[in-house]
Amino acid sequence: MLFLWFLIPLIFAQDFYKDNSNIFELTASSFNKVIYSSNYTTIVEFYAPWCGYCKQLKPVYEKVGRFIQADSKYAVNVAAINCDKSYNKQLCADHQITGFPTLKVFRPPKYDANKPKKSSKHVGEVFNGERGFKSMVNFLTSRIKNYVDKVKVSSLDSWIAQTGDFKLLLFTKNQSVSPLFKSLAVDFLGVADFGYVATKDLETINILGHDIQVQQLPSLYLINKNSGEVAKWDQGVDKTKITQWIILHGIDPVDGELSSKGKRLTKYRINKKKIVHDEL
Ligand SMILES: *[C@@H]1O[C@H](CO)[C@@H](O)[C@H](O)[C@H]1NC(C)=O
Ligand SMILES: *[C@@H]1O[C@H](CO)[C@@H](O)[C@H](O)[C@H]1NC(C)=O
Repeated sequence: MLFLWFLIPLIFAQDFYKDNSNIFELTASSFNKVIYSSNYTTIVEFYAPWCGYCKQLKPVYEKVGRFIQADSKYAVNVAAINCDKSYNKQLCADHQITGFPTLKVFRPPKYDANKPKKSSKHVGEVFNGERGFKSMVNFLTSRIKNYVDKVKVSSLDSWIAQTGDFKLLLFTKNQSVSPLFKSLAVDFLGVADFGYVATKDLETINILGHDIQVQQLPSLYLINKNSGEVAKWDQGVDKTKITQWIILHGIDPVDGELSSKGKRLTKYRINKKKIVHDEL
């Protein structure tokens, strides 16, 4: 009996992130679904449970997962794969994993609505930076694909006239796009166009015949060319709430937690126990 008690932790403590809802614990069968069928950037930790550096990384990686997935909801998936499992060994070999942990970041191909065929495969890149929370988060946010156009006030009309009925337009003091706004653009890729105006002044602009006085920075507007509606968002920078507001205006996201794809993929993060035998 004593001997059995000793075995229990060995059996159940093998996968590091099985019970962590912020981190995908991948297998050879879920790897493609999570990584290659999404416009999200994915970081994968290839690990072995017995490895000391992997154990050291675990709390940091959990913090990164919580920040990216639960707090910010950036267009990044945080994932891990246990290379010690026999059914994962081939996949880890295919990715030329020679040491643990190896962190690899997979970037999706650039999507272009005008040249859909041009898209190729995801690009994998080994992360060799410092394995600290800040450096990992900074690296990951720098690897989110940018689909946000920088728009000048003087060229606003032509930007609005471009194809696409739905637009999200941000007025901000910042010269560069925030990871949150980039992530929103990824969630609505192909269904809404995103742009930002970097300005220090509170401009008065004309959109679809409406005179709009930008009263504060940042300010976010939703433009519907079909109905002629221009709506303003002023409830803060929570990605989920902004997404719900966009959905209320009739536009559904194609990626992210509120999309049907996002809900489908969630099962590989949450209640993973239910699919434990799926991979065997
Ligand atoms: C990226 O988004 C576009 C537009 O929604 C979609 O057509 C394409 O299949 C997506 N790419 C991947 C790899 O999922
Ligand atoms: C603007 O930049 C500041 C400083 O870099 C940053 O703290 C803030 O989150 C940014 N805001 C937006 C909306 O991007």
